[in-house]
Amino acid sequence: MLQVYDLKKSYGKTLALDGVNINVSQGEILVVMGPSGCGKSTLIRCINRLTEPDSGEVFFKDQSVMDMSPQELLKFRRRVGFVFQHFNLVKRLTVKENVMFGLVLGGMDSEKAEEIAIDALRKVGLQESSASLPEELSGGQQQRVGIARALALNPEIMLLDEPTASLDPILVGEVLDVMEDLARNAQATMIIVTHEVSFAMKVAHRIILMDHGKIVEEGIPEEIFREPRSEIGRKYKRLLVA
Ligand SMILES: Nc1ncnc2c1ncn2[C@@H]1O[C@H](COP(=O)(O)OP(=O)(O)OP(=O)(O)O)[C@@H](O)[C@H]1O
Ligand SMILES: [Mg+2]
Repeated sequence: MLQVYDLKKSYGKTLALDGVNINVSQGEILVVMGPSGCGKSTLIRCINRLTEPDSGEVFFKDQSVMDMSPQELLKFRRRVGFVFQHFNLVKRLTVKENVMFGLVLGGMDSEKAEEIAIDALRKVGLQESSASLPEELSGGQQQRVGIARALALNPEIMLLDEPTASLDPILVGEVLDVMEDLARNAQATMIIVTHEVSFAMKVAHRIILMDHGKIVEEGIPEEIFREPRSEIGRKYKRLLVA
């Protein structure tokens, strides 16, 4: 469904991506792990060209993302759900309006958008909070709104960039539960960047480990965490045992 070939990206002298290849099939949950600064965000942001790679190719359902015109790219981004580490909610809009926003922007009438937004909020357990403002919610709840906003677009693939990283540890669990729920749906195709080893163990069909802009290990969770071949893999294994 998604193929990435030899993706490279530098920021000045920093080589953020050094020739990354990935292949994600329909219905697959791919978890991306690796130390801070290894290029995980750059990788998933390059997939829908929120960050422009220097070179390489991205194909989504056999269509070249790199060849898309600005208009085609906007259309493509509506097919991709993106969840950020910092929730990026619009402060002055209610929870429901935040979730509706992308739909209305895409030309949907507001009644239909509202119906879909409420359904998406129900999926993340927040239908009761639809009239609240983001600042009235906890961090975990705000991130669930972020996930509902992505879900409302009925995306063909979801990209989640450390969705629990800015949450306090007590709130991490509720967001992981929502993500686990979504991942269990056979239709979902997801790339999830996370440091949560036990979540990855439970949910990932496949894990890739990155270091210094490269993939250093790739495999099913059992393989990676039982018999890691890379230094990074061994570090994560220790976390799992601890
Ligand atoms: N906009 C930018 N300008 C300059 N350097 C950048 C920029 N974005 C990322 N980098 C650098 O590129 C490298 C990869 O960054 P990236 O954000 O992809 O890492 P990451 O694996 O997502 O890290 P983290 O786990 O901390 O989110 C880092 O060295 C970072 O400092
Ligand atoms: Mg990052």
